[in-house]
Amino acid sequence: PLQKAAVEAPEGSLTALRQHARDCRACDLWKPATQTVFGEGPAHARVVVIGEQPGDQEDLAGKPFVGPAGKLFDRALAEAGIARDSLYITNAVKHFKFEPRGKVRLHKRANAEEQAACRPWLAAEIDRIRPDAIVCMGAMAARGVFGSSFRLMAERGQWLDLPDGRKAMATVHPSYLLRLPDHEAREAGFADFVRDLSLIREMLG
Ligand code: URA
Repeated sequence: PLQKAAVEAPEGSLTALRQHARDCRACDLWKPATQTVFGEGPAHARVVVIGEQPGDQEDLAGKPFVGPAGKLFDRALAEAGIARDSLYITNAVKHFKFEPRGKVRLHKRANAEEQAACRPWLAAEIDRIRPDAIVCMGAMAARGVFGSSFRLMAERGQWLDLPDGRKAMATVHPSYLLRLPDHEAREAGFADFVRDLSLIREMLG
């Protein structure tokens, strides 16, 4: 349809993709956002980690996972013994979606159309990087990779085989841990998150 004036994911390198994604108009999220937040990491990383969508700080910095969720992710990676810069880290949706509320910008979840409009970018990133394994943080990323019937809490924390022969695993999103109501639940949730991420270190050897 004509209203989907998508910038086609182009041929060429990951760098070319990143440049083209700056001008993506496949949905309307680009209008109020500061910039496209593309993935970051080695062009041939063995593991690609997929989050949901950039938040306020990511929108301003132009980099994924630099805000509160990113800080928690960094702590979990450190505990799991994984160097963040060995991973390619990206998001299912590459623009911040928000509702202005006075001086703050309240995070809003990207809808199904916005998620679908962004999917070619993630597919192209994975196509260029050719990782051995994919790690999904949160249900949005996991459903994008495994399909809409995926049950995160039942199937998290284990490598599953994708049709293309890659391994993929889902775990919780660090924002979910930040939202847990009490300290004990957060500690337990964090320990489980670290345990899931440790499977990456085992895979990297
Ligand atoms: N949450 C995400 O899913 N991605 C980010 O980049 C930041 C927060």
